[in-house]
Amino acid sequence: MNDSQTPYILAIESSCDETAAAVMHGPHVQGNVISSQIEHEAYGGVIPELASRLHQQHIVPVVQQALREAGITLQDLDGIAVTQGPGLLGALLVGHSFAKALAAGLDIPLLTVHHMQAHVLANFLTDTPPAFPFICLTVSGGHTQLVLVRDYLDMEVLGGTIDDAAGEAFDKAAKLMDLPYPGGPQIDRLAKEGDDSAFSFPDPEVGPLEFSFSGLKTSLLYLLKDGIKKDPRFIEKYKADIAASYQKRIVDILLKKLASAAAKYQVAHLAIAGGVSANSELRRRFGQLCVDMQKTAHIPPFAYCTDNAAMIGYLGYRKYQLQWFGDWESVPYPRGPFEQWRN
Ligand code: KG4
Ligand code: ZN
Repeated sequence: MNDSQTPYILAIESSCDETAAAVMHGPHVQGNVISSQIEHEAYGGVIPELASRLHQQHIVPVVQQALREAGITLQDLDGIAVTQGPGLLGALLVGHSFAKALAAGLDIPLLTVHHMQAHVLANFLTDTPPAFPFICLTVSGGHTQLVLVRDYLDMEVLGGTIDDAAGEAFDKAAKLMDLPYPGGPQIDRLAKEGDDSAFSFPDPEVGPLEFSFSGLKTSLLYLLKDGIKKDPRFIEKYKADIAASYQKRIVDILLKKLASAAAKYQVAHLAIAGGVSANSELRRRFGQLCVDMQKTAHIPPFAYCTDNAAMIGYLGYRKYQLQWFGDWESVPYPRGPFEQWRN
């Protein structure tokens, strides 16, 4: 147990294909290690069973490295934060069981964390965090959410996707175009060299704070099929233009909904978070939207946009302060609303 008032918290993230550990000293990141499972690339997507096995192999060295970076030992820790969900059940089980056993062994609190809430709080891992209340557009591989954030642990989902997530829309498009997984960064890179008005994609009609991306993917599928019929080299020739036009439509949709939420709830600060917030076009146009709407813009540092344990540790620290400790009976949740994670 550490003697100072500021707690040391070890955080663990294993919800998908990243095995990550971080050490927080209060709200500050002291060690941050991520091991990305590149083995899934060969399959064009994450294989759940493989992910669980790789987490088992990586978790001990990743935790040891995070402790080394922070210059502390297990005995200095005051709490263990871990992603309880949402995510792949087998993958979550590895991190969750490890954290539970370690916390029990060290006789310190377990802090169970909702992965999507943690993505939002990645915006606090900077010197200029948002002021409450703010709205965060959280865009990841499995979720697309507009979140009203009243306090660190008081968040309300205002709207989400009715089918695919924004990250999924990027990944599926990349797969259709034979690009490697994960597709988001590939489309982002290609789009920089393309004409974003070359092709048009539909703007789905859903509620003002709802998203839908599955029609976009279908429309891309038909564009590619028709194109290849006329010219077998269609994808190769036009991939940059396709990527730019497709990415533009996703960003249009995301920002239109964010603007509607911002107008409705009258907040002064807006944020983005999650893996897709690493997208260069979304970052640029989000900045522009905030200038136009006279809002203060917040984007997590690049390293904290995609999955990481520092964001889990930050949320864990806020729970530690309120003594919202996890239950020893707790189990991982592959899915579920924010409310489930209060304790
Ligand atoms: O938040 P995250 O790391 O994991 C989940 O919680 O799902 O998000 C992963 C998603 C993937 O769909 C990936 O393609 C997307 O984030 N992504 C991007 C970029 N970097 C990662 N999408 C678009 N542009 C990027 N630069
Ligand atoms: Zn994530």
